[in-house]
Amino acid sequence: MTALFKILTETVSTFPVDSAVRQCFACCEVLQLLAAARLVFDLETCRRSCFVRTAGIRNFIFRSGATTSRSIKSSYDFIFIKWIGYSIKASNMKKLTKNLILEAGKDRRQFLKLAGYGALGLIAGGIRPLLGQSAAGQHGDAISKTGFVPDLDISLVSRPGELAIFPGAATQIWQYHAEVIKGDKHRVVNLSRSYLGPIIKARQGEKIRIRFTNSIPEKSIVHWHGLHVPEAMDGHPRYVIPEGNSYLYEFEVKNRAGTYWYHPHPHGRTGPQVYGGLAGLFLVSDTEEQSLGLPDGEYDVPLVIQDRSFDRDNQLLYISGNRMAQMTGFLGDSILINGRPDFTLPVSTTAYRLRLLNGSNSRIYKLAWRDNRPLTIIGTDGGLMESPVSRSYVFLAPGERIELWSDFSDSPVGYETALMSLSFDGGRMGRGMMMGGGRGNNQTLSNGAKVSLFKFKVTKSVAIRKSLPQKLSEVGAIQEHEADNYNRPRQFYLNMGHMQGMINGRVFQMQGVADEEIVQLGTKEIWEFINNGGGMMAMPHPIHLHGKQFRVIERQGVKHHGYVDEGWKDTVLLMPGERIRILVDFDDYPGLFLYHCHNLEHEDMGMMRNYYVRGADL
Ligand code: C2O
Ligand code: CU
Ligand code: CU
Repeated sequence: MTALFKILTETVSTFPVDSAVRQCFACCEVLQLLAAARLVFDLETCRRSCFVRTAGIRNFIFRSGATTSRSIKSSYDFIFIKWIGYSIKASNMKKLTKNLILEAGKDRRQFLKLAGYGALGLIAGGIRPLLGQSAAGQHGDAISKTGFVPDLDISLVSRPGELAIFPGAATQIWQYHAEVIKGDKHRVVNLSRSYLGPIIKARQGEKIRIRFTNSIPEKSIVHWHGLHVPEAMDGHPRYVIPEGNSYLYEFEVKNRAGTYWYHPHPHGRTGPQVYGGLAGLFLVSDTEEQSLGLPDGEYDVPLVIQDRSFDRDNQLLYISGNRMAQMTGFLGDSILINGRPDFTLPVSTTAYRLRLLNGSNSRIYKLAWRDNRPLTIIGTDGGLMESPVSRSYVFLAPGERIELWSDFSDSPVGYETALMSLSFDGGRMGRGMMMGGGRGNNQTLSNGAKVSLFKFKVTKSVAIRKSLPQKLSEVGAIQEHEADNYNRPRQFYLNMGHMQGMINGRVFQMQGVADEEIVQLGTKEIWEFINNGGGMMAMPHPIHLHGKQFRVIERQGVKHHGYVDEGWKDTVLLMPGERIRILVDFDDYPGLFLYHCHNLEHEDMGMMRNYYVRGADL
């Protein structure tokens, strides 16, 4: 066994940042190795709190030594582990730091088998996280008190699972599952062969109850991204619940018809939880939209774009607790559409409504058609635009949605095209600076690298003709002169520094609000976000406000043409050097809400703050 791995205890201060980190089940395997080496302790703890954050191991990096491999699916030459452990059984919770290098052969599995399992009679089975017990019944009390009568009552559970994404081993994931308890069963639509949560469909004006149960082995809470809901329904991280607990959401759907979504929002863990698979769409319809006769049914297609990295055993890889890599954010080398790699959408010769969500942690897409036709945009974050706009390319930053009209009626059966992400300058806090010594050629796809996202293939000729309505909706002019702070917009400077994300020099505080973050209920305000983006820290920041849809007044310092600032927005991308002014109407819902960068790693690093809407009585 000592021939198979040796343990180096000297401190190594720099880690190869480009290495990928294997999480979840890896930690079990690593723990078993460590157990084999008599360095650990409590396998039971591992199983209970697997996926990413074990009590014992905070941080481990698998370094691929193969220099020619493009991805981390290549052979491991060795596994490099930084172990910041807590001796759990010791009564005094001693903190230990060790660096370990476990040498592996070309075949890691074989290595693990030799080194870890079997030899010491460790339990080889049962190394998956236990499914949390459903907390049925917990809602009973809460519900009886509210007197809320829902049109749609659903249960939503987040829990570990596995999914065959690739041939071979199933991928360990986290997933939302939903069920309709009361109301139309078709309001919850499961995506087949996807880790994504079901699509929840609601109508404006409906009352929705969602009984959320957290069955992943860490704290979580659900946020309804883009929905205008009261403070307690918004999924602020202060409402996180531990595994096995439940949270009751009850709200009226006030939003316009549009493509919204839901995802976890625990502080510091949003990135890994979304990455693990926790996200889903929340579609709202209304009468205005329905009167348009837009393509629907199979011609209304939700497309969630995400990037992921997988190891040779088909398991998700993530940057774990590595602050340097977090500065850029997670960038995967595979593009998944609705949770599936190498995605092709078969289409018929007619018009489609394509609802795109960038559900990636950090990757920005510069969308364009491969066949160079312009993109026809009919909707943004907050629903349909006044009228369609045409762009040769469009940026879609994490959290943003865009709806496209795309008509294949002139394309012959057999025609193929693709939606691309064109290359762009994704910021200078780049590979060069991050990647310390020891970097191999195993590249991840940089932010701004050109990549084909998915294909369209015309497979069927149909006689359905739809024409694009020239007027889609009533959006209205931007009345910025009505702003209560018209002459002194609030300014928010975004920066990254000292391995933290900051807004106006402050990092996130759970309940913290600065004076300049307090607004009065019933006012309208201009907020200005500034991405100075100087020096080594030139990075894009997609800024998101909770609880509000807003309008973009103007953008300065712009070097790109791919913004769709028309229409209602809840997330706006600021490239380095840009500043943007938005108009927000604090017409209702007092309380504490978030605003933050939707690069989820930036968010987890503190580039998030509260704003407080002070009610009339205070
Ligand atoms: Cu989509 Cu605060 O998040
Ligand atoms: Cu949000
Ligand atoms: Cu950011």
